[in-house]
Parts: sequence; structure tokens; C-alpha cells
Amino acid sequence: MTAFRKTAESFTAGAKTLPQRYFVSPEIFEKEQNVLFSARWVLVGHQSQIAKAGDYFVQEVAGESLIVVRDKGGEVRGFYNVCRHRGTRLCEDQVGHSSKIQCPYHAWTYGLDGKLIGVPNMDEESVPGFDKAEYSLHGVGLALWEGFIFVNLAKKPTPLEEVFAPLAGKFSHWNLPKLRAVKRIEYDVRANWKLIFENYSECYHCPGVHPTLSKLTPYDSAENDLCEGPFLGGFMPITRGKSLTMTGNTCALPVGDIKGEDHARVFYYSIFPNMLLSMHPDYVMVHQIWPQSPERTLILCDWFFHPEAAGVTDPGYNPNDAIEFWDMTNKQDWHVCELSQQGIASRAYQPGPYSPRESIPAAWDREYLRHIR
Ligand code: FES
Ligand SMILES: [Fe+2]
Repeated sequence: MTAFRKTAESFTAGAKTLPQRYFVSPEIFEKEQNVLFSARWVLVGHQSQIAKAGDYFVQEVAGESLIVVRDKGGEVRGFYNVCRHRGTRLCEDQVGHSSKIQCPYHAWTYGLDGKLIGVPNMDEESVPGFDKAEYSLHGVGLALWEGFIFVNLAKKPTPLEEVFAPLAGKFSHWNLPKLRAVKRIEYDVRANWKLIFENYSECYHCPGVHPTLSKLTPYDSAENDLCEGPFLGGFMPITRGKSLTMTGNTCALPVGDIKGEDHARVFYYSIFPNMLLSMHPDYVMVHQIWPQSPERTLILCDWFFHPEAAGVTDPGYNPNDAIEFWDMTNKQDWHVCELSQQGIASRAYQPGPYSPRESIPAAWDREYLRHIR
């Protein structure tokens, strides 16, 4: 049975788009923040973005500011960005490098492992019962999957390996942990975050919205191998001899140990609830989706290349060829998502029927509703 037949079979006749309230209601937005973004594993970055001990970045998750840092032993750790003295925000910079974490208010100082190591004018004699060991930074659940960093605000999260078990080994030949992050573009999109997933999950819109992309990957050629659940997607063939770049030429060394037909395929997967993983033969692109309000979404788009692509071993290295291509294509997508948001907010909007080429958006909606209802 071909993968495409699986796609057709998974199509649920009669499936319709979500009702208006899911795109405009502050109550549903709040529930999503509680049930999904505060209680599930969410993507915050890749280990190559904090390659050296002391490298850190700050990411807001469900209204909480978190510090993600590589400690002196090389381990990646996550902490609430909250001082244990009087609660002050510790790191203001979004990215940086430091040998310690020092509060800007009264200079309490923490090691990269979160332990309180310096407290001016306070010790057990001056403050009876005070013990530095009781005032480490509050940690947050953090785990790696294929080199990507995930956090979970739940007190006792289901282990990440358990949640990601269905994907175990599936992408290992792509060498994702070894890839190097080369570029990030942030997009502020005036559309509900679910429209971004629904848009990513089908190419029914490609002929009209993406004329350049459609020349490089025929829009009706998607073959999906993950058709239900939190991980959805499959691949599309790339026109022989082409790459998804502005020039149509390959722009870097192959990212993985890619075999046979996969040399001419682009793989698209959505990882519930905030990751889009797009694997091309010569680069990988990852979107992080961060809902800001029912009508607004922040999208962080990162491009990853082979760790030696920038070296002498790859004279054809031209990352901008891929970055410009997807920046153009991303903006085409965000534009139609914004138009969708505008129309869905109308009193005239009613859920419309999904086509057989929209089986994956329909499956994504089902997964979403399983959590939110
Ligand atoms: S609030 Fe951080 S040291 Fe006082
Ligand atoms: Fe698109």
C-alpha cells in the first residue's frame, strides 16, 4: 500500500474547519495556554544555539520567562527567570553568555547549575536559619529530542522519551543533533496560532499562493506516513536535480546520511503543540509557534545546516539561497493566514468542508480537540 493511499483513507468525510470561537475567544486562548503550553513539552531551541558553557537564551512560555543555559559540565538546564531574594527578573537579554547568573537588584549570584553562590552581607550569623542551599533557582522540566531543547512547566511531566516514543529512531539518519543553527527570522503574524498549523499541513493552497515552490515540488504529490495523533506529516518529491532555494540549486552539504529517493524529497512534520520540522536534503528549517493572543502569533524560524557546511569542504555553501526562498514562502503563508483570521472573525463565517487534500489539517484539529475539550 502506498503512503498516499494511507492519506486518502485517513480522510474523514464530512470533516469541517473549527468553529469561530476557537480563533477569537480569550477563554479558549487561556485554556490552550493552561492545557497545552503549560502542561506539555514545548520546543524552545536547539543545542547548537547554546554551544558553549555559559551560553544562554531566554524564552517566554505560557507567560513565564525561562532561562535556558549550558552549565559548566556541558548540560543544558532550564530555570525560571526569577530571583529567589525578592523575585526580580534576572536576565533581560534574550541571548547571551555569562559565567554566572547575577540579579541586577541586590546582586545575589547563582551558578550555571542554579545554585545560590553569592549573597552580599547575608550569612547564617546575620540571618539566623538562612541557608544558601535552600535558595537555588527554581528549575523547569527540560529534555532533549534529536538535539532540540524542550521544556515542560508541569510539576510532574510525562517523560519526554515516553511522549516521543512513536518517533524513536525515525529521524536518526538526519543527524539533527549535530546540525548548526545559522539564521533566525522572527515573524509577528496577526492570525490565530492554529491557522499556522492548518496552513503548514496541506499544499492544496500551493498553486495559487506559492508559484515558485510549486515549480520545485508538485503540490499534489504529498505522501503522508503519520496521519493521526500528535505527530503528523510525510514527504513531497522535489523536481529532479532541484533544491528548495531561490536559484533551485543545492546550497550546502547534505545534512544527513540520506539514501536513495530521499535525495529528492522534502519532509514536513508537525510536532504538537508548537514545532514544525521541515527537512530538506541540504538544510533543515524549524518553526516555533508561540501564541500571543487569539489573533496574534509569534513565529521563530531557524535554518540549520551541516556542521561543516561553512568550511572549505563545501565550496557550494550558500545558506541565503535557502533562507531567502523560505522567507518569501513563509510570508506568502502568513499573509493568507492573516486573511483567514479576518474572515473567520466575521459574523458570516461558518465551518467549511475540508477537501481530501486537507486530511492532515483535519487530523491536527482532531488531536487539538482531544486535548482542549
Ligand atoms: S531581588 Fe534579586 S538580589 Fe534582591
Ligand atoms: Fe504554504
